[in-house]
Amino acid sequence: MSELVRNERRGAVALLTLNRPKALNALDRATLEALHEAIAEVANDAGARALVLTGEGRAFAAGADIEQMSRMSPQEAETFSRLGHSSAAALESLAIPTIAAVAGFALGGGCELALACDWIYASRKARFGQPEVALGLIPGFGGTSRLVRRVGIAWAKQLVLTGANIEAEEALRIGLVNRSFEPDELLDKALEAGETAAQRGPLAVAMAKRVIEQGQDADVRTAHVLEQNAFGLVSASRDCREGMEAFLQKRDPSFRGE
Ligand code: CAA
Repeated sequence: MSELVRNERRGAVALLTLNRPKALNALDRATLEALHEAIAEVANDAGARALVLTGEGRAFAAGADIEQMSRMSPQEAETFSRLGHSSAAALESLAIPTIAAVAGFALGGGCELALACDWIYASRKARFGQPEVALGLIPGFGGTSRLVRRVGIAWAKQLVLTGANIEAEEALRIGLVNRSFEPDELLDKALEAGETAAQRGPLAVAMAKRVIEQGQDADVRTAHVLEQNAFGLVSASRDCREGMEAFLQKRDPSFRGE
């Protein structure tokens, strides 16, 4: 495992930590590759039922590595954008819930990685932004699409076209962040939310996540059909029988992912 991304287990929750604090966890090629590898490890870890992504030190990630990008040809820049996209897509397509725990700066590619998680918890000291236009660039790791979907087109345009950062309180108000916490509470709260989801029926959680993701790319009638089909499918699982029996027998369910 690379030192650039730590992969630990906290109960049923995989905790991935971007670990390049001297550069505010700036995302260079090596860090993105390490992240991709760590996400694949989590995908293959049957005991990991949720994931929390965070950053070591005072940043979640202050964006793509500007020093490395400054030496890229246009072709290399496109390949680099694809690399960032593939890490974001790998996060998004995990079958388990993913939570970004943002303690400090989540800027540019850092904000985009947070957006690839299912939701974001932030410390009250966190700062969010897409400052690429200040460098003569545009977002390159999915910000132009995921930010629009998360906060709506007007806020996405304000953030991307001004390049100005916002504080956690504003991020909370516009729906970029689900909840904010005191800095020393953030990680525990994110792990706790992961643990809560981890205790639910894993097939149902995975199916619900997939239907939400696929449904938002489809027209609403197709999205309804996707839901109806998935509802029928998950109803055939052993865990669904167990969940309903446990409710009726007034006991906790014992889910097995079957
Ligand atoms: N790339 C490379 N290095 C970075 C970096 C980045 N994105 N962000 C910070 N660093 C480095 C700094 O160069 C500095 O290194 P040295 O100590 O070797 O000089 C170290 O991290 C600490 O940073 P600062 O001294 O700048 O810390 P600060 O507290 O004064 O400022 C900051 C913090 C406001 C986040 C500032 O570092 C900053 O503006 N960083 C750049 C933010 C940015 O523009 N991000 C977007 C990048 S483009 C992108 O992400 C494209 C995309 O979508 C794919």
